[in-house]
Amino acid sequence: MRILVIGSGAREHAIVWKLRQSPRAEAIYCAPGNAGILQIAQPVDAPVGGDFSAIIDWARRNRIDLAVIGPEDPLAAGIVDRFEAAGIRAFGPSAAAAQLEASKAFAKEIMAAAGIPTAEYREFDSGELQAALDYVDQVGAPIVVKADGLAAGKGVTVARTISEAKQAVRENLEGGRFGAASRTIVIEECLVGEEASVFGFTDGKTVLMTESAQDHKPVFDDDEGPNTGGIGAYSPAPVMTPELMRQTEERVLKPAVEEMARNGTPYRGVLYAGLIVTEDGVKVIEFNCRLGDPECQVILPRLKNDLVDLMLACIDGRLDQVNLEWRDEAAVCVVMASGGYPGAYEKGKVITGLEAISPDGRAVVFHAGTATKGGAVVTNGGRVLGVTTVDRPLERAIRNAYAALGKIRFDGAHYRTDIGQKALRRLGRA
Ligand code: AMP
Ligand code: GLY
Repeated sequence: MRILVIGSGAREHAIVWKLRQSPRAEAIYCAPGNAGILQIAQPVDAPVGGDFSAIIDWARRNRIDLAVIGPEDPLAAGIVDRFEAAGIRAFGPSAAAAQLEASKAFAKEIMAAAGIPTAEYREFDSGELQAALDYVDQVGAPIVVKADGLAAGKGVTVARTISEAKQAVRENLEGGRFGAASRTIVIEECLVGEEASVFGFTDGKTVLMTESAQDHKPVFDDDEGPNTGGIGAYSPAPVMTPELMRQTEERVLKPAVEEMARNGTPYRGVLYAGLIVTEDGVKVIEFNCRLGDPECQVILPRLKNDLVDLMLACIDGRLDQVNLEWRDEAAVCVVMASGGYPGAYEKGKVITGLEAISPDGRAVVFHAGTATKGGAVVTNGGRVLGVTTVDRPLERAIRNAYAALGKIRFDGAHYRTDIGQKALRRLGRA
């Protein structure tokens, strides 16, 4: 198989790393990639943007058999539809199915139709400002205001006061805070509980649930400071008991896939369920149409299956013949970020110590925002890289991850020092 991976973050590095372990992977290309990815995949001299004509032409000329799409933006813009029309198998949902992430209102409608547990909500468009403000008064705070469309993970306001909520409503509906993404909003009940992520691989009929993972959003230890795109993760997440995993499979993933088929928007690819564990069991905070990052950095290293086989089974509708198998160990990922992130940060800082981490050793480094400059690897984004280890027990995985991370340096680097502690506390071992 000649494989093309689309994307440039740690998620795509983890995907390429895992695909490479398959004996079926003859050649792997990545567009646009990053410094770490392009050490193990070949570069592509075609852009991914626009209407995807350039990348589709390139894939045709280079006899690509399988395209794997990492991020949500090209999925929502229909890249899988384009590959399929060109006769190239592509892993990921169609544009119509990717609305599950690209439109919060669409996702809530699917959940309502399928009876999937989620926050109570109402949807408002730009002509309904007063009704939206009245709804905030009626429900009270805390309350959550969400821009309907893709807003690079920044479209959600968890408002602690009514005035904060009303300001978010105004900024979205009047100010067009996120452009077209915020012409419609969802206002929903604020749920309380610990969050976890679970993925489903699906061919549109069968859905295979992965093990659980937990992200860390706030930038500082003890969940302090502003939210990031995700600054660390571990798998499994002890908060997800076997009973809660069963609920997730039966009440969330299976009904979602069935409802998407019934709706005429069959879902193939990875379905990401962002969950919150409430007193009434699991509820869905959001669906995403792709693997989560950093969660995939702890999920993929634990997955024993051949990822090429698994993705082809999703595309070809043969998932009923597959079982997922897992390494019975814990995985931990600690993200190193640029100084200032998630606020403003500088790029181009030289990263040293990467060579001290042997690729066959206990730790693996997935690059996120990195580039090559004059023979050196330099920072090129907010989240720079993730250091992942898989080991038993969790304590040892944590220790090894931080030991490896200690060898890597760049100017301004920062990271949380408590990744995994929440899991240890829940296991009574902190
Ligand atoms: P999202 O951008 O949809 O991932 O949401 C960002 C974060 O907002 C989530 O990870 C949650 O921590 C929080 N959030 C979203 N919806 C709710 C909700 N209904 N109740 C409480 N927190 C929420
Ligand atoms: N880790 C959160 C996300 O990928 O959306």
